[in-house]
Amino acid sequence: MTVLPITHIGDPVLRTPTRPITREELADPATQQFIDHLIETMRHAAGAGIAANQVSRSIRVCAIEVTSNRRYPYKPPIPLTVLVNPTLEYLGDETYENNEGCLSVPDLRGNLRRHVRVRATAWDRHGNEIVSEVAGLTAGTYQHEVDHLDGMIYVDRVDDPRTFSTWAQFDRHHRDQFVERITRFVDEVGS
Ligand code: NI
Repeated sequence: MTVLPITHIGDPVLRTPTRPITREELADPATQQFIDHLIETMRHAAGAGIAANQVSRSIRVCAIEVTSNRRYPYKPPIPLTVLVNPTLEYLGDETYENNEGCLSVPDLRGNLRRHVRVRATAWDRHGNEIVSEVAGLTAGTYQHEVDHLDGMIYVDRVDDPRTFSTWAQFDRHHRDQFVERITRFVDEVGS
């Protein structure tokens, strides 16, 4: 297992839009090995997703997976998904208020709005075209990761900085109310 160092907010690589890769570059064994390491790093850190620039590689590749996640136990499962050169399209104007954290922003969470439904068009790690329409918290995770690839961090979207909290303070003061609300939302939307 190879765990790559995760870089933190303040590193310019997180603020630089990533570069799309070619099919040839994707097929290169070095790139395939990098994708394996990206997945291993995400799992090791218990992230719901990770973008290549979070491990200092400025290419348009991210991984997403939610099983039983210790950082986000209320998130519905997402099978392992690697998105290469993804683009996102919002389906409708509907949004919801999410509470997010990020491996590149240690010990902070905050509230922001995400679109309820999105369509991602990308390649999988083998270069096959994939189109996936996702909703709810899963759509939130997709938006969070594609934001990274565009050089954005979730904190950019937090409208009210007073919602920022450490993970411990979130658990103590906000978790129950948030989980109750978001669980109702997940029941409505189905993911
Ligand atoms: Ni993140």
